[in-house]
Amino acid sequence: MHATAIAQPNIALVKYWGKRDMVKNLPAVGSISMTLLGLETKMSVQIDKMAENDRAYVNGSLSQKLLPRVSLALNRVIGSERDRVIVNSRSNFPIAAGLASSASAFAALTLAAASATKSDLTIQQIARLAGESSGSAARSLYGGFVELANEEKTIQVSQLASHQDWPLSVIVAVTEVGPKSVGSTEAMEISRKTSPFYDEWVNRQHADLSAARQAIHERDFSALAAVSEHSCLKMHSVMWASRPSLVYWNAATLRCMQTIRELQSRDVAVFFTIDAGPQLKAICDPKDAETVLTALRATDGVVEVLRSGLGCGARLIADD
Ligand code: DP6
Repeated sequence: MHATAIAQPNIALVKYWGKRDMVKNLPAVGSISMTLLGLETKMSVQIDKMAENDRAYVNGSLSQKLLPRVSLALNRVIGSERDRVIVNSRSNFPIAAGLASSASAFAALTLAAASATKSDLTIQQIARLAGESSGSAARSLYGGFVELANEEKTIQVSQLASHQDWPLSVIVAVTEVGPKSVGSTEAMEISRKTSPFYDEWVNRQHADLSAARQAIHERDFSALAAVSEHSCLKMHSVMWASRPSLVYWNAATLRCMQTIRELQSRDVAVFFTIDAGPQLKAICDPKDAETVLTALRATDGVVEVLRSGLGCGARLIADD
C-alpha cells in the first residue's frame, strides 16, 4: 500500500497568525493565500507491515526532527492503531526558511496517506486534517486563490479563483538560506500571550478578509496590493511587539521592500508580502515579472531569486 502526492507551498495575502485551539490547531483568524507554481514537495507514503517504527526521509536523509509531526499527521488520517509508515519527502526549494515548506509537506503527506490507505475522505476533509498538522497546509489542497474560513468549531477551505482566472506572477527574493530562528507554532503562542496588539489583530481580520475577497473577485490589483501589504505589516507589528520580540527580517529584507517601493513609484504593478522568515515575495502582473525579477536580483543581500506564479492544488501522481 503506497501512494505519492505533490503539493505546492502557498503564500498568505491575508495572514494567519495565532491559534484559538492549540490541540486541534484551529487558527484564531481566517486567511487568504495564493498557491504557488513550480516550487513543490513530492511526498511518498509506503505502509510497511514489517517495520517497527515510522521513518521519515527529507531530501534523502533520515529526519528524526520531523518524525513526531509526521507520525501525528499519519495518525490523523489512518488512526493510531496502524502499521508503520515510511515517508519520503523531496522539495525543490529551501525548506524551513519562511517559504511555507510545512504547508506543501503536510498537504502532500495527508493526501498521500489517505490514498495509500484507500480512505474515502473528501478534499475538504483532507484539507481539515492537513490543517491540524499545519494551519497553512489546509490551503495547499486547493489551487489559485484560497480562503481558509475560521468557523465556530472547524475550518472551511475554499477556492476563491483558480490559477487560470487571474494568473499573477510571484517572485521570491531569498535573502538567507537556513532554518528560521523561531518556528511559527511557538512564535504564534508568544504573540498571543504577550503582544499588546494581538487582540486588535484578531478583531480586525474580518475587514481585511472581505477587502481581499472583493479585490480577487473584481481582479482589482491595487486593492489586493493595499490589503496584502497592510496585513503583512500588521502581522509583523504584532510579532515585533511580542516579548521576546520576533523579528524575522534582515537588512536585505528591508532593502527588498525599498526596491518594491521604487518600482511602485515608477508605476510597476507590484506588491510585497513577507512570512515568518527573511524572504520577500513580490506579486506582480506577468508583463512586469522580468522587471521585478531584475530589480530584486540586483538588490544588495539577495542570494537567490525564484520565479513562480499561481499553481493548482495538491494532487496524486503515479509512484516512482
Ligand atoms: C506567517 O501554518 O506554519 O506563514 O499551524 O503552527 O504549523 P502552524 O503554522 P504555519 O503558519 C503560517 C504562518 C505564516 C502566515 C500564513 O501562512 O498565513
